[in-house]
Amino acid sequence: MSDPQLVLAARVQAALSAAFGPSYADADPVIRPSSFADLQANVALPLAKKLGRKPRDVADEIVAHLDTADVVADVQVSGPGFINLTLSDGWIAAAAQRVLEDERLDVPRVDKPHKVVVEYSSPNVAKEMHVGHLRTTIVGDALARILGFVGHEVIRDNHVGDWGTPFGMLIEHLLDLGEDAAARGDSSVSDLTEFYQAARRKFDGDEAFADRSRRRVVALQAGDAETLRLWNVLVDVSKRYFNAVYGQLGVTLSDADIRGESFYNDLLEPTVRELEEKGIAVVSEGALCAFPPGFTGREGEPLPVIIRKSDGGYNYSTTDLATIRYRVDTEHVDRMVYVVGTTQALHFQMVFAVARMAGWLNDDVRAEHAQIGNVLGTDGKLLRTRTGGTVKLSELLDEAVERAGAVFDEIQHDQPYDEATRAAIVRDVAMGAVKYADLSVARDSEYVFDLDRMISFHGKTGPYLQYAVARIRSIFRKGGLTPEQAAGPIVLGHPAERALALELLGFGAVVQQAGETTEPHRLATYIYAVADAYTTFHENCPVLKAPDEQTKASRLALCAATLRTLVTGLDLLGVPTPERM
Ligand code: ARG
Repeated sequence: MSDPQLVLAARVQAALSAAFGPSYADADPVIRPSSFADLQANVALPLAKKLGRKPRDVADEIVAHLDTADVVADVQVSGPGFINLTLSDGWIAAAAQRVLEDERLDVPRVDKPHKVVVEYSSPNVAKEMHVGHLRTTIVGDALARILGFVGHEVIRDNHVGDWGTPFGMLIEHLLDLGEDAAARGDSSVSDLTEFYQAARRKFDGDEAFADRSRRRVVALQAGDAETLRLWNVLVDVSKRYFNAVYGQLGVTLSDADIRGESFYNDLLEPTVRELEEKGIAVVSEGALCAFPPGFTGREGEPLPVIIRKSDGGYNYSTTDLATIRYRVDTEHVDRMVYVVGTTQALHFQMVFAVARMAGWLNDDVRAEHAQIGNVLGTDGKLLRTRTGGTVKLSELLDEAVERAGAVFDEIQHDQPYDEATRAAIVRDVAMGAVKYADLSVARDSEYVFDLDRMISFHGKTGPYLQYAVARIRSIFRKGGLTPEQAAGPIVLGHPAERALALELLGFGAVVQQAGETTEPHRLATYIYAVADAYTTFHENCPVLKAPDEQTKASRLALCAATLRTLVTGLDLLGVPTPERM
């Protein structure tokens, strides 16, 4: 075990049990960061209250029973009864050595692996992906990677909006343009915003077109073969577009991960029947509704989840309920993480509440809405084009690449790059910049999409971290060895070496936590702290020109462990790390 928090917690618990009896063996020792030592245990304060004694006396008694051997170099009781703990250099060095030698950087796998669905990206067919989809795609992909790394079985699920009444007008519009326009990649079809809006305009202004569209919806619902074929043409055009964006972003989604709303079409009816049989769905004002307890409107009236509209059509909520039922009954998942915008919070709360009433969700099967905040323009308003339209995601990413190129050409490089190498590095820098900027803020808060700030090589940015990685790699190149050849042993002398080694020990706990709380920004923050500790080390501790061979071997080992922590951590965030920069 290399996590200092866990090691110290175990020691303090043993002391509690020795001092106050075995019933305290798993009391929370309240281990926290400390400004006077590496960590502190604050348990004496709550415990003193319980025992009716002075906190300082309780703290002294814990210290008297504390086994410090091999781990703790110094213990001090301070203030009202904080126990300040300083780890021994020998223990830190040995733990860092384990990190270095372990393939998984000594990150444990979870005891109980879960089957987790991470639902993310989920754009809509025949509609432009907007920056909201950018965030769910980036955050969801990071969560899928993180949960997989700690040992869960992850199902990536792209819940594409590919079904519903708009498809009637979209198919009729496609027929008007001519199907071959889609095959040619004609912009009247491939410009999805334009395509959708044109269909909408006709639907609103042309009665005959609207009639045709409505009939087409009926044919689609009835499974008419020709209609389904046309529908598939639209789905394929959109998928090609989604895949282009995913490829550009370097996310792990593929066609195999798409399970659109259409997949659940046949399950809607049995789902509704079950809700009726269980007495959960009742008819109200002609519509079939569920009223989950605790949800009320302005006047205190119960709020419905509409399961089936009065015209017999099903709703967005119905599909989500059928999805939960399918995942529980057929896929037997333990956990569902919905990476979707905050604006849908009420929708998910109510759907989850109905699913709990139906018994699909319970203490063993959890569903979570991992809420995503808005992306703002530099004017502080929702990001839009100058004319107020939806920003095309692919254009936004192209712009990031262009700007990254300009910044890249301004910095000093170890060597000139040929065009292909330059282009590859620039693309990695651009995507790293956009992704890290997104992932370094709490996923449910808003942020301003500001390419200048994101692409900077200074500050808490993707490019800064990529540069830190490239710098470590160049040390190995100059030293004439590979990082894998740096075996140590790690010995700690300079405080910057100690601080870096200690920082490296925190990786496992952070990754675990990020997955548990669905908060990748914790990992983003940690990676920056590692790079920061490395920078201090780099400035104070010469590696290739170390004073003696033993120190050099130890420092190279620290570089290698840092390199792997940064590369692995950034990879879990989906941030690529170019070999050179
Ligand atoms: N397609 C929807 C949109 O673009 C998001 C779907 C979210 N997931 C869900 N299960 N409702 O807004």
